[in-house]
Amino acid sequence: MSKMEEIQKICLNRGIIFPTAEIYSNISGFYDYGPLGTSIKRKLIEYWREFFVKSEDNIYEIDGCIVLPEKVFEASGHLKSFVDPIAQCKKCKSIIRADDLIFEKTGKFVEGKSPKELTEIIQQNKIKCPTCGGELSDVKMFNLMLKTEISPVGGKTAYLRPETAQNIFTSFPRIFRATRAKLPFGIAQIGHSFRNEISPRHFIVRVREFNQTEIEMFYDPEHQECPKFDKVKKNKIIIVTREAQKKESEPIKITIEDAVKKKIIPNQWMAYLMAKEFEFYKSLGIPEEALRFRHMLPEETPHYSGGNIDLEIKFDFGWKETIGNAYRTDHDLKNHMKLSGKDMTVLTDDGRKVMPHVVEPSFGVERTLMGVFLHCFVEDKQRGWNWFKFPAKIAPYTAAVFPLVNKDKIPEKAEEVYETLKKCFDVFYDDGGSIGRRYARADEIGTLFSVTIDYDSLDKKTCTIRDRDTTKQIIVKIDELVSVLNKLVNGEIEFEKAGKLKQ
Ligand code: GLY
Repeated sequence: MSKMEEIQKICLNRGIIFPTAEIYSNISGFYDYGPLGTSIKRKLIEYWREFFVKSEDNIYEIDGCIVLPEKVFEASGHLKSFVDPIAQCKKCKSIIRADDLIFEKTGKFVEGKSPKELTEIIQQNKIKCPTCGGELSDVKMFNLMLKTEISPVGGKTAYLRPETAQNIFTSFPRIFRATRAKLPFGIAQIGHSFRNEISPRHFIVRVREFNQTEIEMFYDPEHQECPKFDKVKKNKIIIVTREAQKKESEPIKITIEDAVKKKIIPNQWMAYLMAKEFEFYKSLGIPEEALRFRHMLPEETPHYSGGNIDLEIKFDFGWKETIGNAYRTDHDLKNHMKLSGKDMTVLTDDGRKVMPHVVEPSFGVERTLMGVFLHCFVEDKQRGWNWFKFPAKIAPYTAAVFPLVNKDKIPEKAEEVYETLKKCFDVFYDDGGSIGRRYARADEIGTLFSVTIDYDSLDKKTCTIRDRDTTKQIIVKIDELVSVLNKLVNGEIEFEKAGKLKQ
């Protein structure tokens, strides 16, 4: 079993993530989140908000509707260009994504080719249906947006948004006025997006309903400098340049400053955000060797983008984009202005009427989550169970509280401690089975600390804290437990120095 399959099994068994409406036949590409999954995802999103929105003075968050009228996507270009090539098996009728199949069979990367060219490649290489070996139809383009109709009598076509970005563009003039902002400034949005993927796969990596956290950073094209660039310019990132992809050579490790100087990254704003993304992922426990940026080739660059640099995570099945950084120029504002007739320009302090340019970091929440699950997963033969080394920011529980035995007033004391901790942290109470089994259950879901209440808790008023990562144990005063846990969670004290080490 691969690591991802192992994780998927835990997610099912512990009700963390599971197929939507699973009591009926499985509709692939849709997943529900149980209590633990909801907590982890919510914390991941909150951490993103802290890291990318609250830490900045000029980024404002909005919350727009999921259903948007057709005009929006006519202007954005999604109606025409948000398409994937498909072929159908003439025998078993399965629908296959043509470019993926060609890549699997020939190793050739065929993004951007026309349906006619793809049909020819399939015929020349005698590629058949992967399910039944049947002959494949000609390739045609399929729009990935999910369509719906507004009003009981229909007639008003709308779409479930395929990206959160479009609410930001259509609301841009109002938000700009309401916040009394000046360029550069950003609008962020967190929410659901939908894509009618032809072949959902790899658990929560390629799904049909997912969450995005996006920022559109608007700036004056005549003043492209990012005021905070100096703070990150010496940070190093790993990037696969377009040139490296052509020569199949290795990624390079380069400072943000050099990457802009050498025009590997198109501008300071994108560079600044990329530096933060790299740090953000590392702080989530994804090691540097499993991270790389990749400059998308021209033929795979989205229709709205003047250049994309993806952040990719290494999964079991290969590298996959989890953040897209697009230099969207003025593509969206310009086209919305054309179609709506509304003015999307802004007046600068020096009296110029400017159509802002935009850099967009777009995070896939579920893909990021899968990367975190995978790289925090510890296969631990010594302990005899596997567990998640989630960072404190996203661990579903800070602590578990265990009564050593279920008698002699120990459960009463443990419940008292549990009630106190509950006011400050996410905690759970477990009195089932041996302490070993309880440690295993707590570790498996990444609980940071286990607090055991024993006989000393009654007379000496102490308890034992066990550290998930090392299994070491310290004895602390119950009165000091909240303060000690706070310090541990915030990394203000080393575990072994936070109490009396138990031998
Ligand atoms: N907004 C970019 C994307 O959804 O891919």
